[in-house]
Amino acid sequence: MHPGQQEHLGMQAPDLFSLKTTYSGCKQTPHQDFVIFMAAAIVDFLSWSLCLSVWLLRLSARIRRARRVAQSRPPDMAARLPLRVLGTRGLRLVLLRSGGCARAAHRGTDKGSLTKQAEASAATDWKKKLTPEQFYVTREKGTEPPFSGIYLNNTESGIYYCVCCNAPLFSSEKKYNSGTGWPSFSEAYGTCGRDESNTNITRRPDNSLGLARTEVVCKQCDAHLGHVFDDGPTPSGQRFCINSVSLNFKPGSGQ
Ligand SMILES: *[C@@H]1O[C@H](CO)[C@@H](O)[C@H](O)[C@H]1NC(C)=O
Ligand SMILES: *[C@@H]1O[C@H](CO)[C@@H](O)[C@H](O)[C@H]1NC(C)=O
Ligand SMILES: [Zn+2]
Repeated sequence: MHPGQQEHLGMQAPDLFSLKTTYSGCKQTPHQDFVIFMAAAIVDFLSWSLCLSVWLLRLSARIRRARRVAQSRPPDMAARLPLRVLGTRGLRLVLLRSGGCARAAHRGTDKGSLTKQAEASAATDWKKKLTPEQFYVTREKGTEPPFSGIYLNNTESGIYYCVCCNAPLFSSEKKYNSGTGWPSFSEAYGTCGRDESNTNITRRPDNSLGLARTEVVCKQCDAHLGHVFDDGPTPSGQRFCINSVSLNFKPGSGQ
């Protein structure tokens, strides 16, 4: 605004500038104009930087959270990465497509007297206690991809325990390489001749996927372990085809 215009404005009935003039007791000057402009700019700048800092805070919180998640990831990250990339559902599909000895993801029919609610809360407890892979295999009758299990090539002597309840299930003494891609045993730990009543496994008919198979579950906690077939080595002729994910191996403890 230049001085000529200013005089014109000053003569008009009360407007912003004349009010200011009255208040300060002097005429509007280019200097005041500049101050108003600067004040507006400063207010603008402050609100803009407030926005920016809020945005930066949010961003850094997000980065910190991501880093924490990455750090809390266990060392077997490579094995779990597909799960993160695909999500549980995606991995489930991959697992289902992988085929093999215990392909089905099919719920058993004999749930006993458990109510739906008790069942749901038991499921949440297992979900907290197990990794997603362990939960999927043992609680949802899933199958690990063939040749992927950590115990497939394990030849150490020791006992394989239930990953859910720690009951002893199989001994290294009866482990053999069936070539199927899953750890295989010719009998359960505690088997006496053909008598399995003292073992910690139970057999159940499984007719999912249109196949007549025999599911193997943990007697103590009902965890799905795998399937048993009668094409095993002599003398038992049995082949327990078990998911590594459902087992926990402890070396030395026993035969
Ligand atoms: C186990 O050995 C087989 C055959 O040597 C191999 O193909 C497979 O990748 C191995 N699996 C693991 C988990 O070490
Ligand atoms: C079965 O599991 C129970 C509970 O863990 C254990 O006390 C028992 O000795 C196991 N039976 C055999 C034959 O290992
Ligand atoms: Zn168990």
